[in-house]
Amino acid sequence: MKIGLFVHSVSGNTYLLTRMLKTAFQDLGEDATLFRVSDPDGQALVDEFNLDAALYSEYLQLPEATADDLIPCDHLVFASPTYFGNVSAEMKTLFDAAAIFWTEAMLAGKTCSALSTAGTSEGGADQALKAIHTFAQHMGIISIPVPCNLVPGMDLPPYGLKHYTGADGSIRPGNAQAIQTSALAKWIVKQTR
Ligand SMILES: Cc1cc2nc3c(=O)[nH]c(=O)nc-3n(C[C@H](O)[C@H](O)[C@H](O)COP(=O)(O)O)c2cc1C
Repeated sequence: MKIGLFVHSVSGNTYLLTRMLKTAFQDLGEDATLFRVSDPDGQALVDEFNLDAALYSEYLQLPEATADDLIPCDHLVFASPTYFGNVSAEMKTLFDAAAIFWTEAMLAGKTCSALSTAGTSEGGADQALKAIHTFAQHMGIISIPVPCNLVPGMDLPPYGLKHYTGADGSIRPGNAQAIQTSALAKWIVKQTR
């Protein structure tokens, strides 16, 4: 299965979470490619707010996503920071660029899953995940839901994986997220076979 993971990240949390999922897919022998979503302001924000420049530099090495990169993928992962209870404008711009495929339903039948990181548990991460699935539905893309027992003992939303980073964004994805991404990769591969 060809998997494309499309991530927007500035302070690195969403990138780290998505990188974990990519590694989990690759550990299963899947063909997984990570793309970064265009953000003309990203480097300036990293500099201005003294964010993790080394991590951002690694992130910038990823190929920049275009709408055309969606076409060859069987499974699409969209990973966005939660911005004001929604996906970021940059992720939305990628979605809107896919309008060229809408009239012919060229993305229909692909599957997708969603990731988001957010500052707090009250910050609307579920809404960001659901915004991804709303886009998917408009495109005829089939959302893979997350079952409540994906990782026994961990409560997960049906909409995808989310990680809370704290008000200052300093709580990085860790062991719990490694367990969740590993389980999610296995689940997605099983559902899409
Ligand atoms: C413009 C902006 C809007 C944000 N809006 C929210 C929000 O609505 N809810 C929330 O919990 N966190 C919000 N945050 C915090 C980010 O979601 C959080 O820091 C996230 O981990 C950033 O992702 P990144 O590290 O991949 O860049 C916002 C951050 C920014 C910069």
